[in-house]
Amino acid sequence: MFFMDLNELENRAKEELEKIVDIKEAEDFFKKYLGKKGEIAKVFDSLKDFAQDEKKQIGQEANKLKKEIEEFFEQKKQEVKNVPAKHKQKEEKIDITRPGFKKIRGHLHPLTLVMEEACGIFQTMGFEIALGPELESEWYNFDALNVPKDHPARDMQDTFWLKEPKSVRSKLEGLKSDKPVMRTHTSPVQVRYMESHQPPLRIVVPGRVFRNEATDAKHEAQFYQLEGLLVDEDVSSANFKAIIEEFLKRFFKTSVEIRLRPGFFPFTEPSFEIDAKRADGKWLELMGAGMVHPNVFKAVGLNPNQWKGFAFGVGVDRLAMVRYNIADIRIFYQNDLRFLTQF
Ligand code: DAH
Repeated sequence: MFFMDLNELENRAKEELEKIVDIKEAEDFFKKYLGKKGEIAKVFDSLKDFAQDEKKQIGQEANKLKKEIEEFFEQKKQEVKNVPAKHKQKEEKIDITRPGFKKIRGHLHPLTLVMEEACGIFQTMGFEIALGPELESEWYNFDALNVPKDHPARDMQDTFWLKEPKSVRSKLEGLKSDKPVMRTHTSPVQVRYMESHQPPLRIVVPGRVFRNEATDAKHEAQFYQLEGLLVDEDVSSANFKAIIEEFLKRFFKTSVEIRLRPGFFPFTEPSFEIDAKRADGKWLELMGAGMVHPNVFKAVGLNPNQWKGFAFGVGVDRLAMVRYNIADIRIFYQNDLRFLTQF
């Protein structure tokens, strides 16, 4: 009877071993058969109930069986030692059909996008990029640009004047108007560039400008401009019109209706203002422009009889407002992610 049991035990153990597929099942098997309270230990425990000669024989048989099962078990354990338990496999299963999570990446601000694109278009037309300081002197911001001393743009209302430390003021005393000012436009870079470069020249100047005024839907205390300047011996306003039309056509991709109005700027003669038609049918002023005033050439030591040029100053925010159909300039500066993530 007992021999039968041993055989039965052997078959059962081997059958179960066969079916083991993961490390958890292997551990369970060890506990059940080979552990301290396992089936084989029970066989040894029961030996005490047998007569001496039977004890010896059964003991030998049981030892053999134990060794055999241990061997099989070891082999199986090696096979499955790296296979995690089945229930775990289920939990950790990767569903490759599941849609991924969108990674939110940073991106450029809409004004930067517009600025870069506008500069790029002018570069393809032979314009170079020039830069100038945001903290300017009164000379570059106004005087050299033929802005009269009593021009309202110089008023406290429109211009952020800076207090000079006493040490600086005493050094500047007697010098031509060098009061520090946050530049109110990018036009002073025209002067700086012509001081250090001989014509013919064509530049665009991207940059931030500052106005000491109340903000509303169309006005911010700081905003961005793109200044343009082209100087050569034979330049007319027809050249300006051709270039600016080409720029607007490329920038807006569809044809945007524009109109030229006569305007006034101290640094150009004649001067124009260019408006673009918005999606809602209203006109929005996009830029000021004109033929470079002889006094500006004189201020940088160029002969106005030899050189002619046109200049323009585009409101970059305005370009972006028309491009994206935005009615309020202030939204560009609020850093509201609900707005910014749309670009
Ligand atoms: N600087 C002017 C402004 O800020 C814009 C401007 C007008 C620039 C005419 C120019 C120009 O170069 O020719 O309002």
